[in-house]
Amino acid sequence: MKRLLLLLDSDPMPNAYDIIVGYDGGADHIVSYGGITPDNVGALIDGAVFTRGPSEKKHTAMFVGGANMAAGEALLAAITKRFFGNFRVSVMLDSNGSNTTAAAGVAQIAKVIPLAGKKVVVLAGTGPVGLRAAALFAKEGAQVSLTSRDKQRATAACRLIQARFGVSPIPLEAIDNDARGEAIRGADIVFAAGAIGVELLDECHWRDERTIELIADCNAQPPLGIGGVEATDKGHTRQQKLTFGALGIGGLKLKVHRACIGQLFESSDQVLDAEQIYALAKSMT
Ligand SMILES: NC(=O)c1ccc[n+]([C@@H]2O[C@H](COP(=O)([O-])OP(=O)(O)OC[C@H]3O[C@@H](n4cnc5c(N)ncnc54)[C@H](OP(=O)(O)O)[C@@H]3O)[C@@H](O)[C@H]2O)c1
Repeated sequence: MKRLLLLLDSDPMPNAYDIIVGYDGGADHIVSYGGITPDNVGALIDGAVFTRGPSEKKHTAMFVGGANMAAGEALLAAITKRFFGNFRVSVMLDSNGSNTTAAAGVAQIAKVIPLAGKKVVVLAGTGPVGLRAAALFAKEGAQVSLTSRDKQRATAACRLIQARFGVSPIPLEAIDNDARGEAIRGADIVFAAGAIGVELLDECHWRDERTIELIADCNAQPPLGIGGVEATDKGHTRQQKLTFGALGIGGLKLKVHRACIGQLFESSDQVLDAEQIYALAKSMT
């Protein structure tokens, strides 16, 4: 029986990355849909859960993607709410690589620095990756601040995290590199989650900050997110700080993503969201 993955994307066009990794993770065939919302997902769920017998349902799984974390969370909630009894299939949420990237980044950092009590600043944390990373750091007991160029967006992001995870990062407005340089004063760990191709800090903003033990960046496209940190860094030492770049994080991210897809097809009752994906990333670190 073929392993079928329904890729449900909240954006108009399904994401090519998620399709390719879906195949590499073990799907035999991927049926991808764009523009999926809680209002139009019902028929797709019914199609997935009513077509195969109880022992066969594990060969069908769902993946929720898209650039909007809140939209992804709403879709996941709508999907799991519609399941009943045995009429369910395993489902994974990873809007814009949010869970897999944040899990891979935080797990690698947690391996080298115990996070409880550490001051962590998540720069440009209002996107999917930053939202999940801030939540995972806070769940590990870190004191987390989250920056945005706009205070209202930072506050809204922290509210979203509070509602979903029960932890409360501190929202900070930081409109440019100098302001973000101010925001990282006194921090132990800096995690840059800014948009692709956007530099958030110059090297001069962090190299002399004595408290900073580790600095990590998710952006792989030049200009990189943190001046002075290379994309391939994976526990390098620069300016007496440990550094992780986007490719240093991305290797584990890809492995975790593939492993999650494989895991979806092991049973029909799994929901892979931040906590489950982070646990897997930690076990693979
Ligand atoms: N390494 C990997 O394996 C991997 C995997 C997936 C994603 N990524 C990378 O992870 C990063 C975060 O992804 P994402 O989807 O969460 O990002 P995103 O939503 O595209 O952007 C994150 C935040 O960046 C801020 N931003 C946008 N333009 C900016 C600008 N010109 N100057 C300063 N800040 C700006 C915005 O925050 P405000 O508007 O609130 O300021 C935005 O919410 C991206 O660089 C992505 O490419 C890496």
